[in-house]
Amino acid sequence: MIPFLSLKDITAKYADEIHQAVQRVVDSGWYLQGEENERFEQHYSEYIGTKYCIGCANGLDALIWIYRAYLELGIMQPGDEVIVPANTYIASVLAITENGLKAVLVEPNPETLELDDSKIEDAITPRTKSILLVHLYGRCAYTEKIGEICKKYNLRLVEDNAQAHGCYTPVVNTKEELQLSTLNFQLKRTGSIGEAAGHSFYPGKNLGALGDGGAVTTNNKELADCIRALANYGSQKKYVFTYCGRNSRLDEIQAAVLDVKLRHLDEDNRLRQQAAAYYYDNIKNPLIKFPARMPDENNVYHLFPVLCEHRDELQQYLKENGVQTLIHYPIPPHLQECYKGEWGEVSLPITERLAQQELSLPISQVMSECDLEVVVNTINRWR
Ligand SMILES: Cc1ncc(COP(=O)(O)O)c(C=O)c1O
Repeated sequence: MIPFLSLKDITAKYADEIHQAVQRVVDSGWYLQGEENERFEQHYSEYIGTKYCIGCANGLDALIWIYRAYLELGIMQPGDEVIVPANTYIASVLAITENGLKAVLVEPNPETLELDDSKIEDAITPRTKSILLVHLYGRCAYTEKIGEICKKYNLRLVEDNAQAHGCYTPVVNTKEELQLSTLNFQLKRTGSIGEAAGHSFYPGKNLGALGDGGAVTTNNKELADCIRALANYGSQKKYVFTYCGRNSRLDEIQAAVLDVKLRHLDEDNRLRQQAAAYYYDNIKNPLIKFPARMPDENNVYHLFPVLCEHRDELQQYLKENGVQTLIHYPIPPHLQECYKGEWGEVSLPITERLAQQELSLPISQVMSECDLEVVVNTINRWR
């Protein structure tokens, strides 16, 4: 059986370093808000290219805290609108609605599967305050047009970078930004394009912890200070509470593990890109369609989605032939029970079609050439 993702093999690759890191924390007797968090936050903000990184409990919280901070700082008001791609994972939408803000769902571009920048302006109203841009499947969703729209309508650009750790973007860093950290590249990474970004370190992500974890990156000090407080009961000083926050901290063991894995992230992403290239070059089945492959993009292939009109049949066939796949995502947020009635009779045909046709093939940094070959041959034999 070729598993969709073998977390065991991914962890085994860096087992010695991970064991050492975990042992160090165990022996230290210090398990929360310590040196490991400080070190990881510094390394991750340098890696992403922002001044601040705030570790927190998970990716959903990271996004919730960004919008909660906008509310606490008086930058947004309850009922304000946030544009978000309709085909995203539910967490992006929950982060908006949890804060009493209104999620405005906009269709993806059927070629890239990312937010369709030509449909954004129609969704803007006087209450629109932000775009939550999701870099879905590992591809940078930012376009110059999105930047222009944000400027024109004074919208705050927030990134959901749960699925694109390490992805470069077509946006060039300014001189000042290059001096910010140890950045040695000209292009921005996802997570440093907007005003703030939420990152998830869920185990299956490109940079995954051995449990839950998340972070916010930003260059805005006021926002960073507020978010750090919110994720720690709303406190900036021990036993003094400025905001009604929650316990949403990243623990020391996860921070230590993430710091190890961060050192290998670029290499791991390169291996994912190689696997993706192998799929693109060798899957030859007219019933299977790929999302557009852009020559100069730096897709980090958190997932490898393909589209197929007979998706369920294909998935069953692959399962019977030893290839595990997943669907991202079978039910879009607007059709979920929890959001019944939220958007009335909204029409999102592209999103609904993707939910019926998308299938994610196994991809990771530990898949062997032999595994990839089996997946390709099995798919090419279908029908
Ligand atoms: C696009 C997206 N946003 C947010 C999240 C939430 O992250 P977490 O599971 O760490 O809360 C995830 C992953 O689960 C995700 O895929």
